[in-house]
Amino acid sequence: MKKWFAVIGDPIHHSKSPEMHHFWYDDLQEDAAYVPIHVTPDTLEQAVTSMKVLGISGWNVTIPHKEAIIPFLDELDEQAKHMGAVNTVVRQADGTLKGYNTDGLGFVRSLEEAVGTNEKNRALLLIGAGGAARGIAFALVASGYTNITIANRTVEKAQAIIQELGVGQACSLVEAGEQLAQYGILVQTTSAGLNDAFSMPFSLDHLAAHAIVADIVYNPLMTPFLEAAQQKGATIVTGVGMFVHQGAIAYEHWLQKTPNTNAMIARITQQLGGN
Ligand code: ATR
Repeated sequence: MKKWFAVIGDPIHHSKSPEMHHFWYDDLQEDAAYVPIHVTPDTLEQAVTSMKVLGISGWNVTIPHKEAIIPFLDELDEQAKHMGAVNTVVRQADGTLKGYNTDGLGFVRSLEEAVGTNEKNRALLLIGAGGAARGIAFALVASGYTNITIANRTVEKAQAIIQELGVGQACSLVEAGEQLAQYGILVQTTSAGLNDAFSMPFSLDHLAAHAIVADIVYNPLMTPFLEAAQQKGATIVTGVGMFVHQGAIAYEHWLQKTPNTNAMIARITQQLGGN
């Protein structure tokens, strides 16, 4: 029987996940379909029940349901439990639903694809302390990055993540900007660059030479933060890699095959006007 998958969110029309998974189904000759479904918060429980009844094999979860879906699942993997958020659901052989979070590991794979695995000891500044930063922080620590500082407008939120991680330190955005020269890797996870009013968490005047600067936003491909870092000579990691790798890890959970991430990253980068 043909397998089917979905992505649920509100809004959902912008999602590139259906195109990405169909590209991989064609490439790996998988008889499957992947549909975007617009689910509002008040219909989330009904949507989960309906998808189960209709024989879905698994689905992705995007904003605003990543936390709200948890009560409707039977089991969570360790990373999703730590993060308190799920972006991938697997319908297991016995029909139960297991939640995973592939966002954080997707980021780490993207970073390491760009810069290799020898940078784990460099001082890493994670900017932001929202849901995305939390996922990335746990995945970084699980992957051996321990020299971590989290900077956030609301410092208490950064402190709370550090306390749960058990390593690293927290600081304000102002302090991070002033001390920037000491960091070898910057990871931008706030909504800076997504609206005109807030484009930069702080100035990059003190950016270290040879720094690696990553943003998790992939549309626009070059956020104002990445543009500024590139002008300073930094190595840039756009958000496309994280998006593709989180999808690839979900694919692995669902279909036990590894899809072609390089081709997909090149395709989306080109669509967004990059090269
Ligand atoms: P996500 O799930 O994408 O991480 P989120 O949980 O809403 O989204 O987190 C948004 C992040 O962007 C937070 O770190 C937030 O800082 P606060 O915790 O202080 O709210 C940060 N952010 C959003 N708007 C900001 C602004 N104008 N200036 C500085 N930081 C901002």
